[in-house]
Parts: sequence; structure tokens; C-alpha cells
Amino acid sequence: MSAPTTDTNPSPPVADLARTLGNHPDFARHYQGDHQGDQQGDQQGDQQGDQQGDHPGEGNDRDFAQAYSVVRGLTEELAAPLSPEDQTVQTMPDVSPTKWHRAHVTWFFEAFVLAEHQPGFAAYQDTYWTLFNSYYETVGPRYPRPERGFISRPGAYEVGDYRAHVDDRMLDLLASLSVATKEGNDETLTSLMNLGFHHEHQHQELLLMDIKHVLSKNPLQPVAYPGSKVTPTRVEEAQWVNFRGGVVDVGWLDGSAHAAFHFDNELPSHPVLVQPFALADRLVTNGEWMNFIADGGYQRHELWLSDGWARVNAERWDSPLYWQWDGLQWLEHTLHGTRPVRPEEPVVHVSHYEADAYATWVGKRLPTEFEWEHAVRESGAHPARPNGDITGFHPTPDSGGGGLRQVFDTAWQWTSSAYLPYPGFKAPVGAIGEYNGKFMSGQMVLRGGACITPTGHARLTYRNFFPPHARWPFTGVRLADSLA
Ligand SMILES: [Fe+2]
Repeated sequence: MSAPTTDTNPSPPVADLARTLGNHPDFARHYQGDHQGDQQGDQQGDQQGDQQGDHPGEGNDRDFAQAYSVVRGLTEELAAPLSPEDQTVQTMPDVSPTKWHRAHVTWFFEAFVLAEHQPGFAAYQDTYWTLFNSYYETVGPRYPRPERGFISRPGAYEVGDYRAHVDDRMLDLLASLSVATKEGNDETLTSLMNLGFHHEHQHQELLLMDIKHVLSKNPLQPVAYPGSKVTPTRVEEAQWVNFRGGVVDVGWLDGSAHAAFHFDNELPSHPVLVQPFALADRLVTNGEWMNFIADGGYQRHELWLSDGWARVNAERWDSPLYWQWDGLQWLEHTLHGTRPVRPEEPVVHVSHYEADAYATWVGKRLPTEFEWEHAVRESGAHPARPNGDITGFHPTPDSGGGGLRQVFDTAWQWTSSAYLPYPGFKAPVGAIGEYNGKFMSGQMVLRGGACITPTGHARLTYRNFFPPHARWPFTGVRLADSLA
């Protein structure tokens, strides 16, 4: 095992980064742990916590240590069933190996927290700062993303050593700060810790998306995460929920009952005009998608956006990403293994192009991101309370009931909105400004959350984004209709 080196080559930019983040008004104000009410555990606090989706424990150093261990523990739990060989494979440029995710999120805490706050900081391995830097040009050189699968060393166990080393240093740091600063209100540290938690949550979801793609290429059809026996259920017809529209506020609102944490791309909040509209109360099902296929959905150019039709032909799409026709029936690769498509489950792993074509086929459309946010705010749907886990490894059927359902815990929902900056948005100066702002081109917004989204990560104003052809995320379809 390599010992920590004494050469701290990336220190100057990281120090700049931490100072930049700490001074940025948005991050200094919003990432600090000033929402202790979220963690109180009383009835009102629980209700707020449900809506806010933040981590219990944010707010002081001791609780940070607990929250840190919970977040880091989930990553290792998700990786535990995977062999070192599973964790090394990269099946396409978008996919990163499991062990890369485990190392990268560790590097994030090392580079963004320890480098600034640990006295006498020294990097664990200089080379790791290149291998596990994802896209932060400000921080230093990066290893090419499409070649992450070439990194046979460090191996999965060595990555575990790296994680343990950084965890020890992080917990030591938090313990020392608890003693040194009773008020425990170092805004920069608090901001970075919260960012690190949510960053690791993002990668926990990516880890599962990516290993699903990796295992889909293995002819042995591995079962990475055994599922429980499922009894077929019947799903009710989708109902429409009407919304009046008007001038409504969107975006993260300071002091509201929504999440305490947010990314910079959710700012500034601003008013938008929304015409009267309706949303389907549940997501489109596999059974409904089978009807689309049977009606020639993938062969009828008139249903498709031009770029989508080009993809259909170039990549020979005839069904959602993980479906395969065996001559008798559709089979679906899942994280629970390969099995027949279940009609009652929501369709998942469809691109924006497919979602749009399906909506056209049924004479409806996709919602704008502002319609989606307004409708969910009005309906009162809120994410599950944080419990240090995920909801499941595969979306489950709608269980019925009133209001909007399958909002935060089933599949991300494509919108018709391009991923653009809100009016007045300014990316923070420095490396942290690279987190979201530079990706605001050529991508579409998704709202809600998926079964593999860690609890505590989804929220009302969250703006997920992917290119319109992306199919490997857990993406589904909620239909919209115009009433005006
Ligand atoms: Fe990352």
C-alpha cells in the first residue's frame, strides 16, 4: 500500500476553490447548516424533513460526522455485491467503473475539504488527483473519461484503502473542529460538507446506472442485487390532474418549506407564466409502451423529432434500452437480473426522443419543467424522508390513490425544457462554478427522482439533466396536456 506523499501539487487551486466557495454569497448562505429545524425529529420537524429532503445531522460537527459516515457507508453497501472485476469494467464512455466512482467521491472530500481544512495536509497519492478528478479543469489535469476502464490499478481493494484513509482523516478533522470551535459554524466547511454529501449521492445513483449497463453486456446475465418475489398487480388507468396556471414562482426559494440544500442551477427563483394544463397522475407503464411498439411506434417517422428519428435508425432502436425480444416475449435486464417485462411497471430507460414520440402518439405532450414544478408544489407531493438508503433497484407499479404519484421515487421524468440558466444565473467563480453551469448546452431537464436516487437527495426544485438521446439513466414518462 502506498504511503501518503508529501507533494501536495494541487493545493493552490484547491485552496482557491475553497475560498471561492466560502465567499460566494449563494453557497455561503445556502449550504451552511442553518436548518437545524430539519433535524429535530419532532412531528413538525419530521414533516419539514420529509419536504426538505436534507440529511439528519447537518448543522454541527458531531452530527456532520454521523451524516458523513451514513453517506459514505451507502456507497460501500452498493458496491459490496460487486466483484473487483465487476468494478473495473467500462462499457461506454458515459459509464464509469464502480471503483472509479468510489475513488472519485473520496477524492472530492480530500480535494475540497481536507486540502483546505486539515493542518499539514498532504495528498494520499498525487496520481489519484489526476485519475479521479472528473471534470474540474481548475483543480488540475484529468485522466480521459472514456478510458477509465483502462485503470486496472489501483484495484478495488486499494480504492477501499484510499476510502478508509480519507474517512479517518475526515472524522479526525470533524472531531478536532468540534473541540476547537464550539459554535461549529465554519461556513466554508459546512458548505463543502453538504456539497460533498449530495455529490456522493449523485454518484451512488450513477454507480447503479453504470453497473446496470456493465452487467447488461455480460451474457451470463448476472444478478447483482437479488430482488424479492413479485406478485403481478393491476394498475388503474391514468387520471388527469388539472392546474389553473397563472404567474407562478419557480426555483429554490430561500426560507420556504422546501429543501435546505440546493445546487446553484436552481437559482435564482423567478416568476413564470404557466397556462392551464393537466398532468397524468402516474407514469406511463410498460404495458402502454408495448401498445406503442405494436402500433409501429418505432417505425413511424411522423411521431419523431428529426434528431430522434436519426437515432432510431442509426442505433436501431425498437424498444427501451434494456428490452430484448426472445421470439415469444419481451425480456428486460434489471439489477435483479433478466426477466420478462412486467406490463404494470412504469417504463424506464427511454430517451427524451422516445418520451416525446410516445406523447405524440397518444396526442399529448411532455410537461415543461415549470409546469412540473408548479404542479408538484400544488399537489403537496414530497420526497421520502432521508434514511441513508435507496428506495429500490427497480421501479415498482403505481399503487393508486389520489393526487400525483410516482413523483420522486420511481423514475426521472423527462420535460420539454432545455437545460438553460435561470434569468440572472451566475456560475460561482472558481472550480465550484464548474459543477453545473458549464453543462448548460444540448441537454434536457428531468424532474423528480428515481428508485435508485438516495433518500434525502431528491427535491421539488432539483434540475437533473441529460442529453436527449440518453437512455441509461432511470428515465420515465409523465404525460401533460394543455387546457387553454
Ligand atoms: Fe463527481
